[in-house]
Amino acid sequence: MNKERVLELLLTAIEEGIQVVDTKGKTVIYNEQMAFIENMNREDVLNQPLTKVMPDIKRNSTHMEVQKSRKPIINNKQIYFNKNGKKISTLNSTYPIIEEGKIIGSFEISKNVTKLESLSDRIVELHDKREIDKEGYNFSDIIGKSKKMKSLIEQSKNIAKINSNVLIIGESGTGKELFSQSIHNLSRRKNKNYIAENCAAIPSNLLESILFGTKRGGFTGAENKEGLFRKAHGGTLVLDEINSMPLELQSKLLRVLETGKFRPIGGDREEKVDVRIIAIANKDPLKLVKENKFREDLFYRLSVINLSIPPLRERKEDILPLVDYFVKHYERIFNVKIKGMSKEAMKFIMEYHWPGNVRELKHVVEGAISLLDNNDEIKLDDFPYYINARTSDKDNDLNIKKEEVIYGDKKLEDHLEEIEKEIILETLKENKNNITKSAEALGIKRQGLQYKIKKYSI
Ligand SMILES: Nc1ncnc2c1ncn2[C@@H]1O[C@H](COP(=O)(O)OP(=O)(O)OP(=O)(O)O)[C@@H](O)[C@H]1O
Ligand SMILES: [Mg+2]
Repeated sequence: MNKERVLELLLTAIEEGIQVVDTKGKTVIYNEQMAFIENMNREDVLNQPLTKVMPDIKRNSTHMEVQKSRKPIINNKQIYFNKNGKKISTLNSTYPIIEEGKIIGSFEISKNVTKLESLSDRIVELHDKREIDKEGYNFSDIIGKSKKMKSLIEQSKNIAKINSNVLIIGESGTGKELFSQSIHNLSRRKNKNYIAENCAAIPSNLLESILFGTKRGGFTGAENKEGLFRKAHGGTLVLDEINSMPLELQSKLLRVLETGKFRPIGGDREEKVDVRIIAIANKDPLKLVKENKFREDLFYRLSVINLSIPPLRERKEDILPLVDYFVKHYERIFNVKIKGMSKEAMKFIMEYHWPGNVRELKHVVEGAISLLDNNDEIKLDDFPYYINARTSDKDNDLNIKKEEVIYGDKKLEDHLEEIEKEIILETLKENKNNITKSAEALGIKRQGLQYKIKKYSI
């Protein structure tokens, strides 16, 4: 096989621009794509010294700089205008070529990110629009009767009043966004922006410019762009799925948290910002640290205050209040009044392990009610097929034994009820069954005691 011919084919087929320059500054490889990106003719560049064909000094110097320092320059952002005056953005990485300890040249790989970039602009613009019509959850929107949720809500209300960064951890659909919005809306930052970005939804090479913005040198004629840190100034910046942030950027974020300053891409000065960060992870952060997806130093910095929202299967007491809430919500939306839920459906709802947590429950209720007419009852059949299939699975996603999941909390609740019943029986005996006196001794209202006597069939 003629390797040179293969290389030629590769260089033509590849989407990236490639340029190899020797130590004299002469271009020895220059593919079509690079010529397109740089708005040059291949023939004019090949075998010519850079200084002759490229009047753009700053650009030439990348190759020379790398050859001098012997260190690569990675993901360097640049802007060009092509023949039609269209703006082209590239991400360039330039590497030294070293042979037997001697520098013999450098090569540059140039990725055209114009499309990605316009996507990034759209993402930032979208945030501007979202701020105007965002619904804005408050703590009063969080339904939770379980002890765990009640104490979590109390804790979060206190957190809202202070200024620290927060790490929220919880499985998908547990209400992490609900909590982060509620914290913002109760904080003294509430009249400033709340900006949430999902780090997993954005190509990693764009995340930095979206967060920190870009400053551009005069010669490119391009404008400066504000990043989300700037937009969130005075307010709250939510970084969802923080573990999807490239490690390199995580360390930059850590620096911002430590110094309160950031540097826009291409900028020569750091800028000060006042932003509260709420970071969100939907997996166990310690595990992510072990897997090298979450920088340990950033994790410790963020987790000074952390909120861990338990999955729905670990707080079964919340299920009925949530069902109630969602039923009312969707009755309004679908304009029906339903009659409640069959025993079978109820039993299922209590026993299912809800891998999608509250969001899944919400969708199940929505789906069921959308099918019903006035005075209908929610029945097992109204639940989606996949759910019925999943319940019969031996293992659920988390490999937890179903019995444990379903009855784990119930046991504790039963236990507490038993203790309460005993205390009431004793107090009644001491007070010769006088309800008023017993209620007084227990520190509860007479009606309250009467209710409990009935409840426990005393
Ligand atoms: N305790 C709750 N009370 C009322 N609604 C809730 C509660 N928890 C979650 N929800 C609802 O469930 C849905 C999912 O909540 P949210 O978006 O906050 O979850 P999340 O943890 O951010 O999920 P993901 O990890 O998938 O981003 C939303 O519609 C939210 O309103
Ligand atoms: Mg979320």
